[in-house]
Amino acid sequence: MADLDTPEKLKTELLAEVAAADSLAVLEEVRVRALGQNGAVTRLMKALGQLPPEERKAQGQANNAVKVAVSEAIEARKAALEAAALDARLAHERIDVTLPPRPEAQGFVHPISQTMDELMAIFGEMGFTVAEGPDIEDDFHNFTALNIPEEHPARQMHDTFYFPADGDGQAKLLRTHTSPVQIRTMMTSPPPHRIVAPGRTYRCDSDLTHTPMFHQIEGLVIDKSTHMGHLKGCLEDFCRAYFEMDDLPLRFRPSYFPFTEPSCEVDIGCSRAGGELKIGAGDDWLEILGAGMVHPNVLANCGLDAGEWQGFAFGLGIERVAMLKYGIPDLRTFFETDLRWLRHYGFAALDQPSLIGGLAR
Ligand code: FA5
Repeated sequence: MADLDTPEKLKTELLAEVAAADSLAVLEEVRVRALGQNGAVTRLMKALGQLPPEERKAQGQANNAVKVAVSEAIEARKAALEAAALDARLAHERIDVTLPPRPEAQGFVHPISQTMDELMAIFGEMGFTVAEGPDIEDDFHNFTALNIPEEHPARQMHDTFYFPADGDGQAKLLRTHTSPVQIRTMMTSPPPHRIVAPGRTYRCDSDLTHTPMFHQIEGLVIDKSTHMGHLKGCLEDFCRAYFEMDDLPLRFRPSYFPFTEPSCEVDIGCSRAGGELKIGAGDDWLEILGAGMVHPNVLANCGLDAGEWQGFAFGLGIERVAMLKYGIPDLRTFFETDLRWLRHYGFAALDQPSLIGGLAR
């Protein structure tokens, strides 16, 4: 656009350029060339000062008319271009409001939490209430009161994590089993007792079927007439309910625990063929719990008269029964926090399987 001498010519040319602008960017260039600091209309206005005073009024009005006409044309063109751009987007970007919404990413319930819920539901149906104890225990509750005095060889069976000794030379420890909850229960409330105590336990141990942190659920029944037959019936009923299998292969093996007499361990028949753990098949066994009649010394340590009170206790490995029921071959994977593992073995929070399917039968 050359410098134009008459406002009328300038107006004609600028209006033609505005009309020809086919995008907002081109229109902006025209606006700057016409009305910007150095634009043609601006220069025309500045040149007014050089005119003789008698010509200024008429020339000023003519210049103003150019400015107004060009400004209005630019605004109108801008609105038209914006409307056209919107129309083009609307035609191109269709939204189908009838499509279903995308589902939100969902978390999964960890198999340990799921199994704990199932165990508590079953024992709840059997009349047990839930008791709790601390993860950080003292020597008395974890060992001594359970008839495991200092220097007793059984202490070596529990590769214990100790804290540094405190002022009086006593070292706290991470509980090696849930059995201290038996002691806490019997020392703080009067019999009869029928409790289960689920929770974390710790041992310095790691392989396919052992991890340094694992979970147990303790059971304790104390009254005046409970005997070994009740222990066997209770654990058989529990195992059949939990595994939802009436002909579950179960093995009660004589064993030794300082806090029970007699003692046993319970194994479930399984197969590990092809890297998958299957219950009820094959000729392999997996130990799931230890149990026995509560030792008279333990009752006495808790202030109960062993001539009047008796009962049984058991301690079950929660990972072990989860592995068996859900075919998880390696215990260590429970705690590797691998999301793909959790998506595979986890449970949808709102789609829980029946918790006590086996009991109803
Ligand atoms: C005990 O811990 C006894 N307190 C159980 C008990 C309670 C016996 C009451 C009698 C009366 P044991 O060390 O065997 O026993 O462990 C019990 C169960 O915990 C085992 O059968 C196993 O299922 C599980 N378990 C033991 N160590 C580990 C480990 N490192 N990782 C995963 N599970 C384990």
